[in-house]
Amino acid sequence: MTDQHFTVHAPGRVNLIGDHTDYAGGLALPCAIDLGVTIHAGRGGTDIQLTSDAFGGNVVINLTEIPEIQSLEPFWGRYVAAVAQECAVTEGFRGSVTSTLPSGAGLSSSAALEIALAVAMQFNGSQMELASLGQRSEHRAVGVPCGLLDQLSIVFGKRDQAMVIDFSDNAIDHVAFPEDLDIVIMHSGQVRELVDSEYAERRSMCEKAAQRIGPLATASLSEIATLDGDLERRARHAASECERVRHAAIALRGNDPATFGQLMLQSHASLRDDFDVSTSVLDELVDRLSQMPGVYGARLTGAGFGGCVVALCERNAIEDPNAMTGRGWRVRPSDGARVITE
Ligand code: GLA
Repeated sequence: MTDQHFTVHAPGRVNLIGDHTDYAGGLALPCAIDLGVTIHAGRGGTDIQLTSDAFGGNVVINLTEIPEIQSLEPFWGRYVAAVAQECAVTEGFRGSVTSTLPSGAGLSSSAALEIALAVAMQFNGSQMELASLGQRSEHRAVGVPCGLLDQLSIVFGKRDQAMVIDFSDNAIDHVAFPEDLDIVIMHSGQVRELVDSEYAERRSMCEKAAQRIGPLATASLSEIATLDGDLERRARHAASECERVRHAAIALRGNDPATFGQLMLQSHASLRDDFDVSTSVLDELVDRLSQMPGVYGARLTGAGFGGCVVALCERNAIEDPNAMTGRGWRVRPSDGARVITE
């Protein structure tokens, strides 16, 4: 019984500046992008059955008896089961998941999948609740203690607008993204596994630092100097990154891409030197990009440890985004998750 067909879409996101700040109650400046995850299915029955060329393999979840999530295969079935539990859904659907987002690349393919699934399951709550549900599903599915950056960007995205997010109260300010600027993303070729990475360790270091000196988003250099070693460097990244986001928001509103680009380069250096989440491949890509005419700045985007770099450029400064690494995209800020047909 699969007669009532629907299509839902959730975009990925690119973070223009402000990484490893969300879980510290800080600031970030991302946008949703025109690459994403689409689910096309028909409702009926008590199973969710999904095929996917993008994520690989078939997922079958019996909603009357959801199995142990951590051992589900294929891997992406864990997200399906986790979102199904979070939504307490009872009606199944059968269909396919397609994706134009690379996986494990810092563009939030897993958050896009979670949010698309929750929309497919007709989650009935506010946009903020939808984002939180996505975050809880991530924790439930794979145990990554992520912040809310990905889910808020994906839910609240607006066409041609970036957003300044303040994670101290999850306030979102949309800012028009200039017509004459390009966002170019390049894949480093290094696939990142958040589960295996040191993400959780970085987060707990920031929490430890905050217990000693208070919220990192507003910590002063002298307060940070009372910490030592790695703790000092991690806290310095979080605090200085929030300050850069504040300046980047002013630069974007004032149509000053040159300043924005400089802040992106400083952000990359801080993620590399203080937060230790870059790789030599990402560093080299950022260096090469930043020397190209018409490129204002570049940085790693997302959690790091591989994945993608993002560059802010004059329109068409990079003619072929695929040329440098074989996988690149010119993206525009796009609308958030939505039902396409129901
Ligand atoms: C991942 C997490 C986010 C955020 C970024 C780093 O994308 O899911 O919550 O912490 O890393 O900024």
